[in-house]
Amino acid sequence: MKKAFISGISSGLGLGLGETLTDAGWDVYGISRRNCPRADITHATCDIRKRETIHPTLTTLMKDLKHVDLVILNAGVLGRIADLSETAVSELQDIFNVNVWAQKSILDWFLHHIHSVGHIILISSGAAVVGNRGWGGYALSKAAGNMLIKLYAHEFPQETGLTALAPGLIDTQMTHYLRTDVDRNKYHAVERIAEAHATGVMLSPRKAAERILTQLTALRECPRGEFVDIRSLDAPHEYAKLMGAQGTTTHRDSPAR
Ligand SMILES: NC(=O)c1ccc[n+]([C@@H]2O[C@H](COP(=O)([O-])OP(=O)(O)OC[C@H]3O[C@@H](n4cnc5c(N)ncnc54)[C@H](OP(=O)(O)O)[C@@H]3O)[C@@H](O)[C@H]2O)c1
Repeated sequence: MKKAFISGISSGLGLGLGETLTDAGWDVYGISRRNCPRADITHATCDIRKRETIHPTLTTLMKDLKHVDLVILNAGVLGRIADLSETAVSELQDIFNVNVWAQKSILDWFLHHIHSVGHIILISSGAAVVGNRGWGGYALSKAAGNMLIKLYAHEFPQETGLTALAPGLIDTQMTHYLRTDVDRNKYHAVERIAEAHATGVMLSPRKAAERILTQLTALRECPRGEFVDIRSLDAPHEYAKLMGAQGTTTHRDSPAR
């Protein structure tokens, strides 16, 4: 039976991925602060901000495993949408503690405790490459996450695939906050998120999970350690429009990179 580990499995994309893999016959292990609503997923409670608890939790959860086919580093926080100049460094550090340093800790555990790992996917974001006003700590941390994966690609065995993946827009608690609590006049990028929700373009967590899992083979064929936006694989026109609107390019549309 194939085995997967997913962080942040209590809600949103992580739960969608856990449910989809479990329904497809995988053995799924997950962590989060809240419980996982699916009893057939092996779950441990863990607050990954408390870095010292991560290794003992993972050891208890997966102590007998020699091989894990898929590791999805999905747990993440958005932080407050605000100008960087009005954001304290301590607030940025809180975001980095979850989105970067906890991910490093989980990667270290897999590197040292699991004999073979098939593919590691860090859930990144378009925000890692698009510098929209207000996305300060989140954008910085997701960009750092992309580099984390690139650097760990040197340290994991060649057989382990590593990808930082932007999953596209998903209807979760995170985007609910963006649609309902953020000043659209000041932070214009929120408008696109509200529009995607209103027009039905925004996927449910389950559909977003299926979209990602459909692309597993394609992701394995991308260079190890690369940042990939799911839209560049299955919706290239939408992706080109998005990047064109942001004045941003990546390896998929810029041969210079
Ligand atoms: N939604 C989107 O459109 C979108 C777009 C691009 C990227 N992403 C990324 O997708 C990932 C999932 O986000 P989502 O949209 O599904 O949001 P979500 O519903 O808020 O889910 C976040 C998950 O992360 C877990 N988590 C947060 N802080 C944690 C902590 N300290 N310790 C352990 N687990 C923690 C949460 O579990 P607990 O609260 O139970 O701990 C929850 O299961 C994130 O990395 C996000 O940056 C989302």
